[in-house]
Amino acid sequence: MSVKRIERIGKFSCDIVCPPDKSITHRAVMYNAVAKGEAHITRPLLGEDCLSTIDCMRKLGAQIEIKEDGVHVRGVPKLSDADLYAGNSGTTMRLMCGLLSPYRGTWRLTGDESLSRRPMRRVIDPLTRMGAEIVSCDGKAPLTVTGKALHGIDYVMPVDSAQVKSAVISAALGAEGVTRITEREFTRDHTEIILAAMGADISREGKTVTVRGGRTLEAVSVTVAGDISGAAFPLVCGLITDGEVTVRHVGLNPTRAGLLEVFEQIGVHYTVEERRQCCGEEVGTVTVKGLGQAKPYTITHEMIPRLVDEIPVLAVLACFLDGDSVITGAEELRVKESDRIAATLRMLRAFGGEVRETESGMIIHGKGQLSGGCAFDPAGDHRMAMSAAVAAAASEKGGTVTDSDCVAVSYPDFWQMLSGGTK
Ligand code: S3P
Repeated sequence: MSVKRIERIGKFSCDIVCPPDKSITHRAVMYNAVAKGEAHITRPLLGEDCLSTIDCMRKLGAQIEIKEDGVHVRGVPKLSDADLYAGNSGTTMRLMCGLLSPYRGTWRLTGDESLSRRPMRRVIDPLTRMGAEIVSCDGKAPLTVTGKALHGIDYVMPVDSAQVKSAVISAALGAEGVTRITEREFTRDHTEIILAAMGADISREGKTVTVRGGRTLEAVSVTVAGDISGAAFPLVCGLITDGEVTVRHVGLNPTRAGLLEVFEQIGVHYTVEERRQCCGEEVGTVTVKGLGQAKPYTITHEMIPRLVDEIPVLAVLACFLDGDSVITGAEELRVKESDRIAATLRMLRAFGGEVRETESGMIIHGKGQLSGGCAFDPAGDHRMAMSAAVAAAASEKGGTVTDSDCVAVSYPDFWQMLSGGTK
């Protein structure tokens, strides 16, 4: 198992380009792989999750080449039967269930140990209502999808999940009639943005997305915006070590930018410059310069979808604020790559933080510092490994992260980035 020792960093300062967005890369590969024509994806994220999607789409018959200048995809109209391995990637497995359901064929979907524990009924239920046939192992992978003729449905989402919404939208593309999906809270809308650009009949009114099936998707070349969920690590590291961090080309899609809402709420000084559009997504350059007199935060359930993957590193941030930060409505964290509420409590306590578990989240008592000097096992969860590394860098005695290679799932250059910060 790979182990990384992280020494305390006096002030973490850097000026970097944001890692490309994982969610957008998945979608650009997947939908172009079933579209008419050829697409060039510039600045794709080549982390393990997106490589799983590329591998699955190749097995289905799409021609996909990874070159110096990005990923080149030539789509196929008919999909081959195949065994598909989604690795650690929930997005790959859930979106694939929807995408495959209206095609002719049979596919078996498997994943690693973590993915095999994650709930799949949340996609199986709405897709079955559309006429899909998906056999699971008590609501979990392995899944067998057998293509069927689907019909549109009206679906009110019982969970705030872009993966579920995107699975239903994907199925709706090949379904007869109209599908309406209503969200409780806005979740990330990368699927809607890219599919509209590919000529799908998709629109939104308030919290309802409407899709009319039957249109052939046209390939679209995409330059991938940066991943704010990845940018969160250097930005928080800069804040809590009183450094100066600039991250360029950060995706600022409002359905993702909850991190900046927290910065606003606690009163840290940050700037967003060079705002521009990048293939339907807003991007910009974000700079932070230390915590100043920042106050603790309160994160409520309606904010969660906009910062769901940033909670563990925001919990680290809370330890450096003076007083109680409160996170509520975060139950979804229990069913991520690991139980991230339990894992965050375990991590903060190991580093000397004070944290109390609540029914739907946690209360973190910030004391302006962490002691560290511990070893933390992220148990294969990339975001826990990176959050622990940030905690270690800002701790009195540093720290050790075991299973450190798992960062490659979403941020292959993470360790290089962390070691690049000025000491
Ligand atoms: C993702 C959606 C989120 C997020 C995951 C990627 C996506 O999951 O946690 O990392 O690409 O749609 P949920 O939508 O299930 O909350």
